[in-house]
Amino acid sequence: MAKQKNAQSDLKYLDMQAYVGITKHNGGFAATDELLSLCHIEEAREALNVGCGIGVGSAYIAKKHNCRVVGVDISEKMLAWSRLRAREERVEDKVEFRLADVLDLPFEADRFDVVFCESVIAFVDDKRRAIQELIRVTRPGGYVGLNESLWFKEPSPEMVARVRASTGADIPLAATWQALWEESGLRDRVVRLYPNGNSTYITEGNLRASHRSLSEPPFDNVGLPYHTYFESNLEPIPAGQPVELVFDLLPTAYQFPKGNRMRVTITFADSDSFETPRLDPAPQLRLLRTSNHPSFIEIPFDATTHTLSSPKIARMADAPVHWLCYTV
Ligand SMILES: C[S@@+](CC[C@H](N)C(=O)[O-])C[C@H]1O[C@@H](n2cnc3c(N)ncnc32)[C@H](O)[C@@H]1O
Repeated sequence: MAKQKNAQSDLKYLDMQAYVGITKHNGGFAATDELLSLCHIEEAREALNVGCGIGVGSAYIAKKHNCRVVGVDISEKMLAWSRLRAREERVEDKVEFRLADVLDLPFEADRFDVVFCESVIAFVDDKRRAIQELIRVTRPGGYVGLNESLWFKEPSPEMVARVRASTGADIPLAATWQALWEESGLRDRVVRLYPNGNSTYITEGNLRASHRSLSEPPFDNVGLPYHTYFESNLEPIPAGQPVELVFDLLPTAYQFPKGNRMRVTITFADSDSFETPRLDPAPQLRLLRTSNHPSFIEIPFDATTHTLSSPKIARMADAPVHWLCYTV
């Protein structure tokens, strides 16, 4: 097959990911597990992971299943991370990584039992041809699995342009994926749609780290951590030593729909609310998440109560957040 240049317009986002060694796809390992279970991975001898990124998925499968995995990616930098990952996970004997473009896979036809990719085709302009290539290298009776994003509703041209410019991705509408699937010739197709990845603001909290010492509240603070922010409580963070930061989130009640996840975003400045001093050199803070110094949120769950009038909701107030930070 003549090599065709992949018409990706902008690889900057992926270049940045390759540089720092991070790749991801929607749904994490749970999505990978579901996809591979639909592909009957437990019966596969050899699987091809196209656009393997930093090799997390390939190493995961090799560890979990009795299956050899070949990972391919268009980026040498990604492959270097993948090889490191395989070494660290001690699956080098079951995984092999090769440089390849999904538009021109360097394998004979009908080779693999399972061929899958996660968050790759969105970055490829010629999606029809990419899918044909995935099918070509899958053995008859084998499985092709895709975990890709789609637009549920037609986005505005500005939104499409913004996603394209920031990530290089060209995300299809559901109907476009459907048409691609239909003309692919694949039989017994299973399509599952998941929440659209939008995030909803739920609550927030803040703390001035230099005033982290806890005080007795002069009023009923419903059991929440209380800080005075008085000058007498000023206590700079000692360099190189962990300190505990405890603060509350604004009490709220929220029902998480099934399948949703919680995302916590931590910033070390809040320029909308506070004037942040400019320090030179800027201090570096590290958030500790080790077993010795775990950071955590206490969330009182109440599966039965959803109304603000319920007395049980008051327990939502007892929801402190403990972050362990130290300066370096
Ligand atoms: C968003 S990352 C996802 C990586 C991995 N599948 C994961 O789930 O972590 C997209 C990956 O696709 C690779 N990629 C992009 N275009 C490709 C192409 N034409 N052929 C092969 N890999 C490609 C990128 O280099 C990158 O590693």
